[in-house]
Amino acid sequence: MFFGCWLALGALIPVTLSIDPGVKVELTRKGLEYGRQLGMVSIQRKLKTIKIPDFSGTQSVAPIGKVQYSLSNMQIDNVQLPQSALDLVAGSGVRLSISNAFISLHGNWRVKYLKIIKDSGTFDLKVSGLSITATIATKSDETGRPVVSSVNCSATVNSATIKFHHGASWLYNLFKKFVSKALRQAMEKKMCPLVANAVNDMNPYLKTLNVVAKVDQYAEIEYSMVSSPTIANSSVDLSLKGEFYNIGKHQEPPFSPTAFSMPPEVNNMLYIGLSAFTTNSAAFVYNKAGALSLYITDDMLPKSSPIRLNTRTFGVVIPQIAKLFPGLMMKLLVKTVKTPVITFEPSNVTVQATASVTAYAIQSNGTLTPLFVLNLDVSVSAQVFVSGMRLAGAVTLNNMELTLGTSYVGEFQVKALHSIFQMVLKVVVIPKLNAQLAKGYPLPTLGKMKLVNTQLQVLKDYMLIGTDVQFKD
Ligand SMILES: *[C@@H]1O[C@H](CO)[C@@H](O)[C@H](O)[C@H]1NC(C)=O
Ligand SMILES: *[C@@H]1O[C@H](CO)[C@@H](O)[C@H](O)[C@H]1NC(C)=O
Ligand SMILES: *[C@@H]1O[C@H](CO)[C@@H](O)[C@H](O)[C@H]1NC(C)=O
Ligand SMILES: *[C@@H]1O[C@H](CO)[C@@H](O)[C@H](O)[C@H]1NC(C)=O
Repeated sequence: MFFGCWLALGALIPVTLSIDPGVKVELTRKGLEYGRQLGMVSIQRKLKTIKIPDFSGTQSVAPIGKVQYSLSNMQIDNVQLPQSALDLVAGSGVRLSISNAFISLHGNWRVKYLKIIKDSGTFDLKVSGLSITATIATKSDETGRPVVSSVNCSATVNSATIKFHHGASWLYNLFKKFVSKALRQAMEKKMCPLVANAVNDMNPYLKTLNVVAKVDQYAEIEYSMVSSPTIANSSVDLSLKGEFYNIGKHQEPPFSPTAFSMPPEVNNMLYIGLSAFTTNSAAFVYNKAGALSLYITDDMLPKSSPIRLNTRTFGVVIPQIAKLFPGLMMKLLVKTVKTPVITFEPSNVTVQATASVTAYAIQSNGTLTPLFVLNLDVSVSAQVFVSGMRLAGAVTLNNMELTLGTSYVGEFQVKALHSIFQMVLKVVVIPKLNAQLAKGYPLPTLGKMKLVNTQLQVLKDYMLIGTDVQFKD
């Protein structure tokens, strides 16, 4: 896991068609810094395992003439990466730079000269002032998930000093410089492939991005990108679709995201802006799927309630009911008649729903006889919170309004039923809804990502989640 997990969130498709995102993600400098730390651990680990190939050659050394030499069995014993940075190059990409790195290694040497003289021993090599710069490029694979690669890499080694042990020191001093230079070049050649390899190692991990996240039996949410990420001065900005769909059949709602811009924030690693569009697309899907309906029976009311779902209770308000259907239990069907509308105002999420309430008498043979249909307009306030990797909520009733739709039992004062239905909403419908909302829906995530120091604020038309992140192996 690496710095790239992040960049990855930012990878994706350069789509020509520009649509406003439902969800925006900003990776701040603080987030990049965390990525850098993870990345350096990985690069350091890789550096320790690099193999410098054996090498041999012939060098003319005055006054002896040709010396055949070989260096073998080279092993790294120390790697230090004191300076590194991951920088945003606005409008371009993310640049990795490592400087002043130090590597020491040891190995065996062997020489042959004057045809018959052989000598061998060990040596220590110190490579210092190693610098690497590379740009981490991101693109999309065929599934719309990110792929990263290292481009424009260059590596230089400032100096390599070699110290031979055993043998005739006068000899090595003669070709020390030459060997140092060759080893320096060998090291330089190793560095960019190593960085490329470390960057490529992120890709399996990036494949875990939940571009389509299942929510429940009805809905899934799409987190694919709607445009290429932008590299700003202080953040990598990603635009995700952030739209709920009915599982299996993707139908667009009759509304689209409105542009929103997030305030410049720097304290957390990551900021996620979730627009009202995203939650409204959820409302569209659930309403369409018929999931926003509930049958209410008497056993769902608290035992202590004096109000019961029977023709006696309702007969008090509508005498015709007691007269026509004496001694029967009743059943209610509450069902949204159009997509509820969710509005985000600063510190206030409001849901406005229009539903129908149909009241039935349950005949002794089980037949449901409709008594009346009411139109219910209800407004609830929602508290929204992050729970694990999910966004959850809970609602409370603001107000409700009842009007008569159809009556099968003559005229009556709808107003008189207000307190009964308010009680039904408060003790049955809202608790059921809250049990669903408490399950939450998935946020965009990579692998075993964990959110810490998370805050959520509701702003005009979107909510802003600021969070730090931890990756567990
Ligand atoms: C890589 O370098 C070339 C030549 O300097 C430059 O044109 C290109 O934009 C660079 N690419 C990236 C991704 O930095
Ligand atoms: C980003 O930096 C560039 C160059 O320093 C500057 O011209 C530009 O105004 C900055 N943009 C923002 C949004 O700060
Ligand atoms: C939120 O807004 C709704 C509708 O404007 C209002 O009824 C409700 O009282 C507000 N809630 C708070 C906590 O301000
Ligand atoms: C059930 O009972 C009601 C009322 O007695 C009657 O109108 C209806 O036809 C009955 N339905 C069936 C299927 O028996």
